[in-house]
Amino acid sequence: MTDAKPIGPKKLFIKTYGCQMNVYDSERMAESLGATGYVPTDTVEDADMVLINTCHIREKASEKLFSDLGRLRPAKEANPNLKVGVAGCVAQAEGEEIMRRMPLVDLVVGPQSYHRLPEMEARVQGGERAIDTEFPPEDKFDHLPERKAMRGPTAFLTVQEGCDKFCAFCVVPYTRGAEVSRPPERLLTEARNLASRGVRELTLLGQNVNAYRADGYGLARLIRALAKVEGIDRLRYMTSHPNDMEDDLIAAHGDCPELMPYLHLPVQSGSDRILKAMNRKHTADDYLRVLDRVRAARPDILLTSDFIVGFPGETDEDFEATLSLIRKVGYGMAYSFKYSARPGTPAAEKPNVDSAVADARLQEIQALLSAQQRAGQEAMVGREVDVLYEKAGRLPGQMVGKSQHLHAVHVTDPTGKVGELARVRVTAAVTNSLAAERLA
Ligand code: SAH
Ligand code: SF4
Ligand code: F3S
Repeated sequence: MTDAKPIGPKKLFIKTYGCQMNVYDSERMAESLGATGYVPTDTVEDADMVLINTCHIREKASEKLFSDLGRLRPAKEANPNLKVGVAGCVAQAEGEEIMRRMPLVDLVVGPQSYHRLPEMEARVQGGERAIDTEFPPEDKFDHLPERKAMRGPTAFLTVQEGCDKFCAFCVVPYTRGAEVSRPPERLLTEARNLASRGVRELTLLGQNVNAYRADGYGLARLIRALAKVEGIDRLRYMTSHPNDMEDDLIAAHGDCPELMPYLHLPVQSGSDRILKAMNRKHTADDYLRVLDRVRAARPDILLTSDFIVGFPGETDEDFEATLSLIRKVGYGMAYSFKYSARPGTPAAEKPNVDSAVADARLQEIQALLSAQQRAGQEAMVGREVDVLYEKAGRLPGQMVGKSQHLHAVHVTDPTGKVGELARVRVTAAVTNSLAAERLA
């Protein structure tokens, strides 16, 4: 006689917070546990393991972990065999504390050690609690299974991880560690594999992706090599730092047709005083000069950025300088955040700007950025763009995908297929997306 075992494969529920790299990591963790017999599920009630992939960037983001864990209590009581894991940047920063405070957590794994998940899972099944927040000497990518069936024609590809920039407000250098670039040969292999599974568009990811440097390759040379991979028609990259926008990368925007006319280049503030306090190591003018060169190479490029308001010491005048920079640039889209003091960062030692003042600045900056975004979308009406279809739309005869400029586009196209790259004409700008019709 054997012990009663649950029928069928074990089920894994993953919840992902944070940046695109966390999305990529979640896919790879699912593949890694998939190799030990887990299949994905999208309900907690159904799951044998719940994995929360966390983000530490702002206080609100990391608090979500603790409210999620609280909500998991009844599920764990109903199913004592349910295993609960915490991954990502909060796991890295606060792993020990999570283990201490949250007895329902079985497993904590940092962003650089998740290739060890299968072995940790086995220990957890044996009744242990497992924690691994090392920065291990081996490369996790060498120990992960090959990419499996992809969800559509677009995919992320992590090419670089970690950050050596140490902006005064930011936890990423501590949670992701030092800058490391993956070897180009491995990336070309992963890209060919993805292309063979129907992927046509790759977004190259890195915390500082344009600091990519490996085996004589910089990011521009890597992009040119990936552009030659059979089946890969579109490339994007993010996130980049203004100080690493080198000449050959800017040139690639002009002469590499596979590189899409889209650039996310965070500046954070338009005030030189604040940029200095943030340890950004560039001025507002340095940034604007980089954008001039990028626009000279690719005049139709869509620019996006990140901004922080209410950084310690930010005056009305500093904030005005940020608004003025935004007006000068004209962004297609941008994110703005209220400064959040993060434990262990140098800026956390400084007195905060009054919270109500920061809230008011956030509203003002968001109003300006949304107006620019709307204007940019309206300017697309009547123009022809190429859309890579990612899925069928909600209306019959409709396909949904992204344009070169990463605008979401709803296309009337009754015969359209997922994975098709279609020429369309934009007919209207609706909230956060464009409507279009297929051209013959
Ligand atoms: N590596 C990227 C992204 C870092 S995190 C880069 O260098 O731009 C994404 C964005 O979160 C940052 O660009 C910044 O605008 C914001 N951010 C980071 N730390 C923050 C903090 N402590 N408070 C508020 N926003 C923050
Ligand atoms: Fe954080 Fe600055 Fe590094 Fe970006 S460049 S990850 S904001 S420290
Ligand atoms: Fe968040 Fe970590 Fe990404 S802190 S933004 S998940 S690198």
